[in-house]
Amino acid sequence: LRTAAVIPAAGRGVRLGPGAPKALRALNGTPMLVHAVRAMAASRAVSLVVVVAPADGAPEVKRLLDEHALPARTDYLVVPGGDTRQESVRLGLDALPEGVDIVLVHDAARPLVPVDTVDAVVEAVRDGAVAVVPAMPLADTVKEVEPVGAGAPEPVVATPERSRLRAVQTPQGFDRDTLVNAHATIALTGDGATDDAGLVERLGAPVVVVPGHEEAFKVTRPLDLVLAEAVLARRRA
Ligand code: C5P
Repeated sequence: LRTAAVIPAAGRGVRLGPGAPKALRALNGTPMLVHAVRAMAASRAVSLVVVVAPADGAPEVKRLLDEHALPARTDYLVVPGGDTRQESVRLGLDALPEGVDIVLVHDAARPLVPVDTVDAVVEAVRDGAVAVVPAMPLADTVKEVEPVGAGAPEPVVATPERSRLRAVQTPQGFDRDTLVNAHATIALTGDGATDDAGLVERLGAPVVVVPGHEEAFKVTRPLDLVLAEAVLARRRA
């Protein structure tokens, strides 16, 4: 079965602070997106990477990837993204050629995911799951609150049992038709979800979890950049 990875990289990354779009921020001198593309290409299962670039930045992203050698067995395409992550992923799915049966969706903002995690997700889809997410147990207890806004103290509504909760990462892996169907259906209803597996769940299709990895964390806030550079330095040591 042929596997492609779609990397939504069209976000502005405002929570990281001012500067270039998040995917183009450098980690130890190399743009985060290049790390993320390499992380997908590191898996021998992945033969195509589709990068979804900021709408006005596709030529720049294409040039950037041309400059950074990928393994010869991996092709890549760059397409312009949309206003939301969900729309960007859908545009990436639209660009997939025939013959691709398994799709990974991987955030550019998770540049350091280890290849073993990527392979484990692909393996689970090959074994018959239609939707697979890598996930980690939580260190923090999580509370559901009633948002009241404006910095006022928020009443707690519930405390879900921590041992049953997982923080989900990417790459999330899918049977291609299932994911395309989920995106098409959700686009019609105008509903949304913060991850792709969430869209598949809404279709009523089964989603399973495999172990994630602490190095697959999402680079969101300035402190995450510090951590990411430390992980890279440790890998090189
Ligand atoms: O904003 P968030 O951290 O959830 O973004 C996750 C991923 O989705 C990032 O890689 C970001 O570049 C991407 N994204 C996108 N198009 C958007 C918004 C976010 O491709 N309009």
